[in-house]
Amino acid sequence: MDKLVIEGGKRLHGRVTISGAKNASLAMMPAALLASGVYHFSNTPNLRDVYTMSRLLGSMGLFCELNGNDLLIDANNITSLEAPYELVKKMRASFYVLGPLIARFGEARVSLPGGCAWGPRPVDLHLKGLEKLGAEITLEAGYVHAKCQKLKGAKFHFDISSVGATGNVLMAATLAKGTTLLSNAAIEPEITSLARMLVKMGAKIDGIGTSQLEIEGVDTLNAVDFETIPDRIEAATFLIAGAMTKGKIILENTNPYHLTSVLEKLEESGCKIDVTGESILLEMEDIPKPVDITTSIYPGIPTDIQAQWMAYMLKADGTSKITENIYTDRFKHVPELLRLGADVQIADNVAIIKGGKQLSGATVMSSDLRASASLILAALVADGSSEVLRIYHLDRGYEAIEKKLIGLGAIVKRVKSELI
Ligand code: EPZ
Repeated sequence: MDKLVIEGGKRLHGRVTISGAKNASLAMMPAALLASGVYHFSNTPNLRDVYTMSRLLGSMGLFCELNGNDLLIDANNITSLEAPYELVKKMRASFYVLGPLIARFGEARVSLPGGCAWGPRPVDLHLKGLEKLGAEITLEAGYVHAKCQKLKGAKFHFDISSVGATGNVLMAATLAKGTTLLSNAAIEPEITSLARMLVKMGAKIDGIGTSQLEIEGVDTLNAVDFETIPDRIEAATFLIAGAMTKGKIILENTNPYHLTSVLEKLEESGCKIDVTGESILLEMEDIPKPVDITTSIYPGIPTDIQAQWMAYMLKADGTSKITENIYTDRFKHVPELLRLGADVQIADNVAIIKGGKQLSGATVMSSDLRASASLILAALVADGSSEVLRIYHLDRGYEAIEKKLIGLGAIVKRVKSELI
């Protein structure tokens, strides 16, 4: 398992290109199960999770090939309707194959997901939505078995706004007979982009970008070429890195509209932000002001930047509060931040961060994707050298992160572990 060795104290400066959005790719790729043909997804990030999804689709007979950031998927030959545990356990997003399989083939056998370490991560909304469309669902031996001659359009309300459940049910509804009305659907950009891609494939979807979606089922869809939207979470992570190190950085290939809530909070903390087209300039000369955040669904502050914001607030000249409203127990990064000298108290879903403490380098352990990002950020401003272990978590969601950080002036080295 590789580790990153980071020398703290360097101000970040220069330009960095943001990659395509992991969570857009992980929704787009299973959509290739909806129609045979050859797909080309440009701006696809070269990530561990994209590779895992490619292996999952490959085990079903699809041919996936990533050339640079162009992903080719040949979906002309689907040979299996099963998503095996050994692949699904690596990545919760694998569960996205359920909706397309049941909608197009009337049958699916998908392992219940494993996914990230923190809290229970149920899939009840996925299953309830598909049952509303007529799927007969049974659970046995850790697998979801779904059967249905032909899905039928229906009304379904998501009790909780769920990105994955919206994606799964939306994809299924495109091939259901009749009209489906979804309310309280997720409006994250990755879902809006998926909906736009489905329309390009021939689906009939109204209300895109809103939480009320109306889908008129069609008999068949077609393979398409589609561009992956920029990764707003990667962008936010680099913006915070620039702010923490009192740097001056320019992010390219972003969609600033997907980051308005984050940009506002960064400005509130004292950053100077300029947006020009797809570029975002951030300059920070002072010690950040303490700024509270509460995570919420889009367009609020994304839960996926909570850990990174906490690292940032360690530098603030005062006390700040983080309220995590999306997940229970998404504070696995805290014990590791404490090892770097942080002062963070947790009570239920609230973290109180006492900023201004000088952090000192240490060896810390990644526990999940965004937790490892927060450890990297803290190490960038800690005195001396830090080692961040088990960065395979990081490789799931950040393309070539050490190269990008080095390009901005950070002193970072990836040390390959002799252990496999
Ligand atoms: C997506 O996960 C993202 N992953 C997550 O990003 C992100 O944190 C999350 O959305 C929230 O924005 C991908 O897109 C691949 P949810 P997802 O269903 O779809 C509850 C990252 O770091 N819920 O929107 O799994 C759930 O427990 C990853 O890139 C149910 O109760 O999240 C959670 O509390 C981590 N029942 C809330 O809804 C369900 O059936 C939001 O979950 C489904 C979800």
